[in-house]
This record gives sequence, C-alpha cells and structure tokens, in this order.
Amino acid sequence: MSALSYRSWIEQKKLKLQTLNCYSAGITPENLAQQLGAHISKIVKLNFNENLFIDRNRQTLLLKQIADEIDLRMYPEDEVPKLTKKLAEYLNIPKEYITVGNASDELLDRIIRLFIDKNDAAVSFSPSFTIPQLCVKRQGGEYLTIPLKNDFQLDVPTMISAFSEKTRLLYICSPNNPTSNQMKPQDIETLTTNFPGIVILDEAYSEFADYSFASRIHEFPNMIILRTFSKAFGLAMLRLGYTIANPELTEILTKKAPLPYPVSGFTIQMGVKMLENIDIMQSAVTRLKVEREKLINALNQIKGIQAFSSHADFVLINTVLPVDLVYEKLLKRGVMLKKWGKILQYDNCFRVTVGLPEINAKLIKVLKQINEE
Ligand SMILES: Cc1ncc(COP(=O)(O)O)c(C=O)c1O
Repeated sequence: MSALSYRSWIEQKKLKLQTLNCYSAGITPENLAQQLGAHISKIVKLNFNENLFIDRNRQTLLLKQIADEIDLRMYPEDEVPKLTKKLAEYLNIPKEYITVGNASDELLDRIIRLFIDKNDAAVSFSPSFTIPQLCVKRQGGEYLTIPLKNDFQLDVPTMISAFSEKTRLLYICSPNNPTSNQMKPQDIETLTTNFPGIVILDEAYSEFADYSFASRIHEFPNMIILRTFSKAFGLAMLRLGYTIANPELTEILTKKAPLPYPVSGFTIQMGVKMLENIDIMQSAVTRLKVEREKLINALNQIKGIQAFSSHADFVLINTVLPVDLVYEKLLKRGVMLKKWGKILQYDNCFRVTVGLPEINAKLIKVLKQINEE
C-alpha cells in the first residue's frame, strides 16, 4: 500500500468508526455533585441497578483477606477453576457448563464476536438491554427488535416470523431491563426450540426473580445463559460474570476467547469468597425484595406516578408529567434515575433502582414535590 492510499484508508476507517453507536452513561455522580455545589454523599443515585443492600463491612473484610492471600506479581493460572467449582456447587450443575468472563458485557461482546459475522442478523425485542444491539451492529450485523406486548410479555409469533436464513442470534433478557418482568418460561422454551441459532438468555437479575433456566440448561443445546456478579452479589465495580451453556459451547467460549486471562485474579478470588459467604448475597436480596414492595406501594400513592411490579432490583415507573421535565427537576435536586421515555403505551418512563430505605424516602419526597408543583 502506498503512503497516500494508506492515509486515505485510515481517514475512511476513522470516519466509519466515528459513526459507531456506543454506550453513553450520561452525567456521573461526581460531576452532578460538582454542578450542584453539593457533597457527593447528597446525590441520590438510583440509575444503574446497583445493590446497596450488600453488607459493605463484610465485603471489605473479604477484600482484605484476598489482599493477604494472593500474589499480584503472578498470572492468574489456577484461579478460574476455583470459581467454576464454586459456581457449579451454587447452581447445582457440572462445572463443564460454566465460562467466566469480565462481567456480562464482555461475555456478550465475546459471544457476538464469535457468532456474528457481517450481514448476519439477530432478533430481540424492545424495549430491552441495548448492549447486544451495539455489539451486533459493530460486527456489521442487522439487529431486529419486535415490540413487547402491552403486558410486557413476548410476542412469540411475530418474533418467530422475524427469523430468516440470516438470523444467527436471539437475545432474550428475563427479567427484562427496563420492564423488570420475567418472560413466561413456556414462551422462552418455544422460541429457543424454534430457533436454529444461538439463544442468549440474559439472567442478570435472576436472583431477584421467581425462576431460572440454569437447572434446565441440558435441555437447550443452543442456549447460553448470561449471569453477573454485578447485581445480587454487589460486585459491579470488579466486573465479573459467567455463562452457562452445554460443554461444547462452553469450550468454545472459554478457549476461543481468545485472550488467556480476561478476568483479574483478584476479581475471581472475590467471586469465590462471595460464594463461600453466600449469606451476604442472600440476606441482601431478601431485604431488597421487602423494600422493593414498599417502594412500589409508596410510588403508586403519588398522584401522577404509576409503578409496575418487579422481578429485579429496580422498578419501572411512568409519570403523567413529561419525562424530560421530570428528569431535569430530579437532577436539580440531586436525584439520578435512568430516563427511558416512551415504552409501548407509556410515554414518560424511568427505571428506578431499589435503594436503601432512607434513599427511597428521599426519592419519594422529591417525586411528590415535583408532582405537586
Ligand atoms: C440485562 C443486563 N445484562 C447485562 C448487564 C451488564 O452487567 P455487567 O456487565 O455489570 O455484568 C446489565 C447491566 O445493567 C443488564 O441490565
């Protein structure tokens, strides 16, 4: 390649890469605190579905133990099998079904890089978690979304009719982000058995829900279940996730990653410790579920707000007032929710993380004020 044609190639490549849609998180808590001239502790952060019910003191003790136990100078050669063994016990499935990754986002990206080529297609539904769409489009693939039904359940016949000879991937999020409901098991089963490609079943929130497909994975050779330590286990900062799939798929996901050590040894050990001390997660989930019901009741008592039932660590709400107006007013008062806007027949939706009681009380107070102004 001559120097001139190389320069024109790189210019074109840069232009193309600049058009790629990427995830944008919006304003950060530190930036908001700065803008408001407030201390960060005054910010009510309920936009990322983080789990504040986890006992932070116990988690810190575990971190300190790991600091004493591991040698940061070494590569993490023996770490992953320790975590897969513990996960196999937790899930009651053989360890050959488990792949560990750098949180669900990286695993999603890994699956899509491995299974989606240019001009392939993927099918999902809307609204749902948006990262898979970004990854498929980055591969040069097409991403088709079928609207959920008005009750937030899957429109199975329309989804099946969207499958074509180009469709390689079906992404099902259950409990779904942002509607927070679990899809009917029978619908997931029908779609999976009718689909010739890979089905990703994203169960990021399964610990807060009623059922999981993990124990039935042997029935579905084309299914990859995606799980994370970011939600129920409260390790969002560390980035740890895993997949559950038949041993053949698992071997591909593990061995063709192709990076040898995608997850830090420190992170893996923390996963092991959290599973050895499973009561930390279990008691957090139990308390969160109690607060979730209280929050839904309190929200539904505010005139101008409708809160939906939830199977996750967040609640979907719809406001009578326009979503942008409410969002601006919330930010001015230091409250961060995830703005969704129109979802099906609901025009002004927000996703609200279930916070600790005192945080939820602040939210309720502010929402009441805004709706009474
Ligand atoms: C449905 C769903 N899947 C995956 C993720 C990503 O989780 P992580 O990358 O922290 O494991 C999220 C995060 O909010 C999510 O809502």
